[in-house]
Amino acid sequence: MTEVSILLFRACLALLAMPIYLLSFLGIWEPFCKKVFFPFFLEKLSAVHNRKTLRQKQELFHNLPEFAGPSGELKLLEIGTGCGANFQFYPPGCKVTCTDINPHFQKGLSRSMSQNQHLHYERFLVAAAEDLSQVPSGSVDAVVCTLVLCSVKDVNRALKEAQRVLRPGGAFYFLDHVAADHSSWKYFWQQICYPTWKLVFAGCCLTRETWKSLEQANFSELKLQHISVPLPWTPIKPHIIGYAVK
Ligand SMILES: C[S@@+](CC[C@H](N)C(=O)[O-])C[C@H]1O[C@@H](n2cnc3c(N)ncnc32)[C@H](O)[C@@H]1O
Repeated sequence: MTEVSILLFRACLALLAMPIYLLSFLGIWEPFCKKVFFPFFLEKLSAVHNRKTLRQKQELFHNLPEFAGPSGELKLLEIGTGCGANFQFYPPGCKVTCTDINPHFQKGLSRSMSQNQHLHYERFLVAAAEDLSQVPSGSVDAVVCTLVLCSVKDVNRALKEAQRVLRPGGAFYFLDHVAADHSSWKYFWQQICYPTWKLVFAGCCLTRETWKSLEQANFSELKLQHISVPLPWTPIKPHIIGYAVK
C-alpha cells in the first residue's frame, strides 16, 4: 500500500516537473543545471544552510588547529567546495586546496574568497571525490566534505580517497543530509521526492544512509552525531555531522 502511494505521489511530482524532465530528455537540463541553475541556487542555499547550522559548524570546526602538522601549518583539502561556504570557519593561515567536479562556481567562490582573506588558497582542482589522483597520498592534515556525500556517485570510493590523501592522524570533517527514520513521515516524503529532487538538484540523493559508510570506513576514531536542521518544507532536515580520524 505504502509503495503504491509513493509511486502515485512520485508520478504527480514528475507531472509538475514535466518541463524539466522534457529538457533532460532533450539533453538540455543537465548542462544548464551545471552551468547556470545550480551555481545560482547553491549560493542562496549555502547562505540559508550556514545560517541554520552556524552554531554546529562553529563547534565542528573549532578543533581544526589541533590537526595541524609538526610545522604548525594546517593543510586542508575541501571536497566539493562549491561556493566556499565553509571558508569562514577555517582558522587563520590555513592552507586550502579546493576541489569540485563542477568548475562553474567561480562567481560565488571569488566572493567567498574576498570575504575570507585570512586563508591561503593554494590550488583549485576540478576533480571528482572518487578520484583525487592529482593529490599525493598522505599530503593533507584535514579533509572537509559538507553536503557532498549526498551527491557523489560512490560514497565508499570517495571515503577511501579522502583517507588516502590524509596523513596518518589527519581528520575527515563531514556534514550532510541523510535518510530519515524509516518509520517516519519524513522518510515517506523523501521517497516521494527522490527521483525529481535528484534530477533538479544535480544528482542529490535524499535517502542515503551515509553514517553506515562512515562507520564501515577504516577510520581509527569516529565522532558522529545525528541532528535535525530546521529547513521547513524541505525533505533534507535529518543530517549527520562530525569528524573521523585516520
Ligand atoms: C550541495 S553542494 C555543497 C557545496 C559546499 N560543500 C557547501 O557545503 O555549501 C554539492 C557540491 O558537491 C559537488 N559534487 C557533486 N558530486 C561531486 C563529486 N563526485 N566529486 C566532487 N564534488 C562533487 C557539486 O559540484 C557541489 O559543488
